[in-house]
Amino acid sequence: MIAIESVSKHYGESSVVAGVSLTLAPGGVTGIIGPNGAGKSTLLSLVARLLPMSAGRISVDGLDVTTTPGDVLARRLSILRQDHHLGSRLTVRDLVAFGRYPHSKGRVTQTDRIHIDSALAYLGLDELGHRFLDELSGGQRQRAFVAMLIAQDTDAVLLDEPLNNLDMVHAAAMMKLVRRLADDLGRTVVVVLHDVNFAACYCDHIVAMRDGRVLREGPPSQIVTKEALLAIYGLSIEVRDIDIPGLGMRRICLPYA
Ligand SMILES: Nc1ncnc2c1ncn2[C@@H]1O[C@H](COP(=O)(O)OP(=O)(O)OP(=O)(O)O)[C@@H](O)[C@H]1O
Ligand SMILES: [Mg+2]
Repeated sequence: MIAIESVSKHYGESSVVAGVSLTLAPGGVTGIIGPNGAGKSTLLSLVARLLPMSAGRISVDGLDVTTTPGDVLARRLSILRQDHHLGSRLTVRDLVAFGRYPHSKGRVTQTDRIHIDSALAYLGLDELGHRFLDELSGGQRQRAFVAMLIAQDTDAVLLDEPLNNLDMVHAAAMMKLVRRLADDLGRTVVVVLHDVNFAACYCDHIVAMRDGRVLREGPPSQIVTKEALLAIYGLSIEVRDIDIPGLGMRRICLPYA
């Protein structure tokens, strides 16, 4: 479980996360939506201790992220950043092996190799393991970074815009994988999404941020409403209930209507 209590982040006079409190349940998928600059990435970076918070407290499975040693935290929580930069002369397999570092400390064991192979297979990258990152398409590279996270094998998984660069087929496959992480492996998954329909179809819970605050949170049926979307995005958006094969009734929106 991830507990975020009254967390704020300021840069000088500017407050980019302002008094956010959230409890994210294990075995569930929480989607974070909201306009550009709402504070979504900053909040994820605070949870993963990539940034120091200005006020508040965050714990992961009861461990205070500010005081927990880095290697202990890295075995509990992994993060896909929105802008990931790593040397492009790495192969996909080397990148995925990095995910094992908190466990292997650089001495790759048979167990690590099993995790690396299964993460590559999970993302459909078996054939691309030997390729350098700069020889991949944007979507293939995005999947390689997610494979690195899967190999890290943590209870909590934070994904900042994992659908970046993915075509429709791979985007849907990524959301199904996110679902499996929660349903089959009991992971606590937090995923930042700009596509409200993917959030509506695959998330248990949606947190909507705006101006550094949580504006709304609840099940998709409460967030994907004309009134809530107007408050979140300032745009009048049509909403429809549709029966999606394999998923059931879902509420989706038509921003161009
Ligand atoms: N280092 C920084 N110094 C000052 N302001 C910053 C810094 N980093 C981010 N911000 C500001 O914090 C606010 C929140 O940024 P953040 O990246 O968390 O937004 P976001 O919700 O992830 O947006 P997006 O959907 O565009 O990724 C923005 O207004 C941004 O300009
Ligand atoms: Mg962001």
